[in-house]
Amino acid sequence: MTTTDQPSTIASLAAEDRRFPPSDEFAAQANVGEAVYDEAAADRVAFWGERAARLTWETPFEQVLDDSDAPFYKWFTGGRLNVAVNCLDRHVEAGLGDRVAFHFEGEPADDRRSITYRELTEQVCQAANALESLGVRSGDRVAIYMPMIPETVVAMLACARIGAPHTVVFAGFSADALAARILDCDARVVLTADGAHRKGAVIPLKQIVDEALEQCPDVRTAVVVKRTGSDVTMVEGRDLWWHETVERAERTHEAQAFDAEHPLYVMYTSGTTGKPKGILHTSAGYLLGASWTQWEVFDLKPETDVYWTAADIGWVTGHSYIVYGPLSNGTTSVLYEGAPDAPHRGRWWEIVQRYGVTVLYCAPTAIRTFMKWGADIPAGYDLSSLRVIGSVGEPINPEAYVWYREHIGGGRTPVVDTWWQTETGSIMISPLPGVTAGKPGAAMKALPGVAVDVLDDAGEPVPDGAGGYLVVTEPWPSMLRTIWGDDERFRDTYWSRFPGKYFAGDGAKKDADGDLWLLGRVDDVMNVAGHRLSTYEIESALVASPLVAEAAVVGAADETTGQAVVAFVILRGDAADGPEVAAQLREFVAKQIGKIARPRQILVVAELPKTRSGKIMRRLLRDVAEHRTVGDVTTLADTTVMDVIRDGMAAAP
Ligand code: WTA
Repeated sequence: MTTTDQPSTIASLAAEDRRFPPSDEFAAQANVGEAVYDEAAADRVAFWGERAARLTWETPFEQVLDDSDAPFYKWFTGGRLNVAVNCLDRHVEAGLGDRVAFHFEGEPADDRRSITYRELTEQVCQAANALESLGVRSGDRVAIYMPMIPETVVAMLACARIGAPHTVVFAGFSADALAARILDCDARVVLTADGAHRKGAVIPLKQIVDEALEQCPDVRTAVVVKRTGSDVTMVEGRDLWWHETVERAERTHEAQAFDAEHPLYVMYTSGTTGKPKGILHTSAGYLLGASWTQWEVFDLKPETDVYWTAADIGWVTGHSYIVYGPLSNGTTSVLYEGAPDAPHRGRWWEIVQRYGVTVLYCAPTAIRTFMKWGADIPAGYDLSSLRVIGSVGEPINPEAYVWYREHIGGGRTPVVDTWWQTETGSIMISPLPGVTAGKPGAAMKALPGVAVDVLDDAGEPVPDGAGGYLVVTEPWPSMLRTIWGDDERFRDTYWSRFPGKYFAGDGAKKDADGDLWLLGRVDDVMNVAGHRLSTYEIESALVASPLVAEAAVVGAADETTGQAVVAFVILRGDAADGPEVAAQLREFVAKQIGKIARPRQILVVAELPKTRSGKIMRRLLRDVAEHRTVGDVTTLADTTVMDVIRDGMAAAP
């Protein structure tokens, strides 16, 4: 397995003996103490049944877990609720209508507004009415391709309110990637904006939608938010302005309750084949997972906290910890549209200072970038409001953890390194800030009510001190329910490697204390700046170019982004080699998938290392890309291939 490909993590793991226990003061006021582990261990299913009381049900559930058709588990059967009512109306009814739901901070400096729970509720009602008037019914899929603006939250909650599952597509994806997602879930309505601000430039979202919709004849309506004021073409009979439809609709909307298992959203994520998987989440279990874990892991105090997940709504982290978790808990959050370095490198810290942010949740790639920029930048701002800081998306190296705690957390705040996935819906493995003595680099142990293990190839739990495959051994409320339209792929991908157990696709190690260290993917999925990308998906994009005969893609270690995409390509006979070819191909991939997938480096090679059965040996290519001594080549059909490739790499710019 490839977990041994991460020498730096393992080396630091062995050396790491720093511990950061919570202060007595913090522990005394924490939402969750040690006892919760015992409560959950005593009866896991009953534990979740009791947690479900934090949601507002129209009809109480009859059974907590129905496991009669595993792995198609059902949670809270018989129960009915409305997710949007849980996120909005109930807070307004409880007298919290004037509480700020979002402090929105736009990219253009001074573009900011605060939106209360009452205002957000009204806007969601308007959007729900508008969607219904456009013929959207419960069960219909709606695609959302929007910037990081409040209207995106409104769009998602309006869908939830009327029971129409949304599929939010990250606004960095290309027209082709957007079209593939729209077609896969057969969305007939698209919500978008004229453009998105990005570091002073405009991403022409509407234009990308227009291009995508050429491939999607069944899409009948696109509703467009005016955000950047860019020139757009509005297609007669198909395109409508948000301000002329949504903002003119009625401000009240009678919400109907839906079954606990009613589909809430589909989020596409990279798998080990070229085709992204539509991960399906349903209503009650998902909402409970997001709501409870935000409260538990971040020690959330909704009356006083100002909470900020610095991620994009287009990924699961944004779904669970910008939208559903925080709103269900009545949290005041920051919603930031822009980049960390626009217009200057202190932008995040300026935001923390402006709003008195108390909880910050971001990715290690951002933390490593801030380290590179230097501690004197955050030191120029007042960050004393922070009391819990979190990390997600990839393993956090101990150096980054310690820097984060010291320079952002003032040497005072607990750091929660949270492991989870699009599929798990909410955080699964994490320290509890009032309980755990944190170890830099370790995600520590499964949260109360979550059961994980690390298995060897034979499916046996590994002893402390050893590594293997991470699995979840018992169902949990916010688990994915299937892959949209492909139950068989759902079974194959997650439940067949170790029958009856959820196979996460990550390697992990138990240290001498039995605490967990995540070691990265064990499959052909890369993690680039916290974004999941599939090697196959990028290879397919490359071979779609008329220049390329064959391609192999690997994720190579990268100081800032964790991994970076490195591609090895064989050109077609008639395609000329030269420096411009690599540049052309990088742009080609960006156009096909999106800029996040653009290879850091493309190497033109004459041959690829293959086994006698014709399988590309990516392990060897990764050695080359990471400038390591190339490993065992004896299974190669032609053992000299690697010498040629390595020499080519050394000569490359
Ligand atoms: C990785 C993001 C180590 C892991 C929420 C997982 C992590 C993939 C951590 C899911 C962490 C996420 N430590 N690795 N704290 N958090 N990962 O679906 O490889 O975008 O399988 O969900 O990110 O990425 P996804």
